[in-house]
Amino acid sequence: MDMQRPAGTVASIMQEDRLFPPPAEFSARARIGSMEDYSRLYAEVARDPQAFWHSRAQSLPWMTPYSSVLDWKPPHAEWFVGGRTNASAACLDQHINAGRGDKTALVWVGEPTGERREYTYSQLHAEVCRCAAGLRSLGIRPGEVVSIYMPMTPELVIAMLACARIGAVHSVIFGGFSSEAIADRNADAQAVAVITADGGWRRGAQLALKKNVDVALTKSPSVRHVVVLRRTGQAIDMVPGRDVWWHDLVAGMPTDTPAEPMDSEAPLFILYTSGSTGKPKGIKHTTAGYILWAKTTAEWVFDLRDDDLFWCTADCGWITGHSYVTYGPLAAGASILIYEGAPNAPHEGRFWEIIEQEKPTIFYTAPTAIRSFMKWGMEHIEGRDLSSLRLLGTVGEGINPEAWMWYHEVIGGKRCPIVDTWWQTETGGIMMSPLPGCTPTKPGSCTLPLPGVMPEIVDASGAPVRPGEGGWLVITHPWPGMLRGIWGDEARFEETYWSRVPGKYLAGDNARQDADGYYWIMGRIDDVLNVAGHRLSTIEIESALVSHPLVAEAAAVGRPHDVKGEAVAVFVTLQSGQADEATKDLLRRHVRQQIGALAVPDDIHFAAILPKTRSGKIMRRLLRDIAAGRETVGDTTTLEDYSSLAALRANDE
Ligand code: PRX
Repeated sequence: MDMQRPAGTVASIMQEDRLFPPPAEFSARARIGSMEDYSRLYAEVARDPQAFWHSRAQSLPWMTPYSSVLDWKPPHAEWFVGGRTNASAACLDQHINAGRGDKTALVWVGEPTGERREYTYSQLHAEVCRCAAGLRSLGIRPGEVVSIYMPMTPELVIAMLACARIGAVHSVIFGGFSSEAIADRNADAQAVAVITADGGWRRGAQLALKKNVDVALTKSPSVRHVVVLRRTGQAIDMVPGRDVWWHDLVAGMPTDTPAEPMDSEAPLFILYTSGSTGKPKGIKHTTAGYILWAKTTAEWVFDLRDDDLFWCTADCGWITGHSYVTYGPLAAGASILIYEGAPNAPHEGRFWEIIEQEKPTIFYTAPTAIRSFMKWGMEHIEGRDLSSLRLLGTVGEGINPEAWMWYHEVIGGKRCPIVDTWWQTETGGIMMSPLPGCTPTKPGSCTLPLPGVMPEIVDASGAPVRPGEGGWLVITHPWPGMLRGIWGDEARFEETYWSRVPGKYLAGDNARQDADGYYWIMGRIDDVLNVAGHRLSTIEIESALVSHPLVAEAAAVGRPHDVKGEAVAVFVTLQSGQADEATKDLLRRHVRQQIGALAVPDDIHFAAILPKTRSGKIMRRLLRDIAAGRETVGDTTTLEDYSSLAALRANDE
């Protein structure tokens, strides 16, 4: 350890000096078209946040006016106290009432070539109303939790908005998660219903969604109803009295179901995410503040205009699909494009084909996807007309400068600004990002905070670090989109986010600020991996492995991966059985079943013992070095050689 460095700070090795100012013609038409405008707005919000958010909140459909803008008793914030509104009304009714019902709300492209549907705002409203009435007819009440486990079809967005319409709290579970993961989430949230589909298309194969739900429901006594969308037509079992087809549920239902007036602070959704323990946490977002944050940030960062078609490639199983597929752009009255399947189905040029056909103007994706595109090669892109694009975005992890440059040149044709957006499930919406009409960008930096966001970089004592030094990223003031808690676990909420730097929100990322004040995210401070832009807890993977009878002990670490950013490497000590390929296959299948395909280890190393410190902590840093090939071990058993090294490095971790 570098003794000069205060605890909690980290050294930066990255030097990136290229600067890309926004194109003049982009700035000329942008909502925020100069750094002076940005600085003025930032200062205005900082001076009187409540006055600012009060004026912005006038754009929401209030059913009962609120009595005060903010009640902040750290770490608990209430925004728009006493008001009543409805997120689905903000996304739909409001636009229809303003005479914009015929505007395209949603364009959907299915994975099987040729499948396409389009909905105007009025049509989407009608479908949401029918689904909402159907859910109500099942007896689902405001405040009850509904799990949603669906493919990326329009019905997924409709299901979310229908829950919001009747005041039910949705908990979307990504379609790649296993039945165990569904069961855990159902139990934790006490879900009363699950909305799913028979299956979904993924790289030409059919996902077994309903089958996974059936297995999960053997352990989900709280679930009374299952609504099943017919998507692929594959054979499934329907349980009489419990399961109902979506088309039967909505048949004959009214297309004008009134939206339930919901308290500003009524939960809108829970979204489970990994933390540094084995148990995923249900991040709770509430109604008014979340919608306002999602909408405002969508308008600022994507500079939304009436003629935009916004393609965010995220699945609604993640926060990006909540805030920038569904709530943000729809509350802003934009047209969204969604695609069901994989980027390489049926060929590796599928995204560019979709862009050529559908002509989106804004494209928002993850660095891991960009690295795949680079790897797949130019032959899939050359000759494609990508000229509809005017703005590009990235999210989920830092983007390495080479990938940034490739995105800028090849996809953006050097004319599209890139917004590298830093945020989290917990923040509800984008916190730091360039504003495309004004902020000069640097490849790899998320640049500056949005108005209303007050970041600070501190050391472990909570003191600001020296200029240019890396440290913990905290947010010092409440913002409307902030999480309101961890579902059912107040103590964990306070401990995880508010205790290490008292009174400030601890994001869990390291960051530094350069001489221009630009922020550079440097990775997590906890045992959370970022695999293909998805958060995975090392402890969750370890618990899954140890739950197998063959395994005595396991340690999971990340190692660099050129496409996924990080890959999962595990070190396993066996209780019994052979340290061979067959056992590796068995363990991979076990993790897939316990968590889902996204957590399956890329590398499995068997070890007779795991290197530990004197106090018995597994030496993760050493394992990371071994996993990355920075320290080599001849064969699996020689990890024992590190036990002496472990003693030497006992003070390291
Ligand atoms: O480590 C940061 C990384 O992703 C984490 C949040 O993950 P999740 O809650 O799953 O949300 C992902 C989508 C918002 C952060 O703590 N991260 C996200 N965006 C960036 C990023 N790291 C660097 N640059 C980003 N733009």
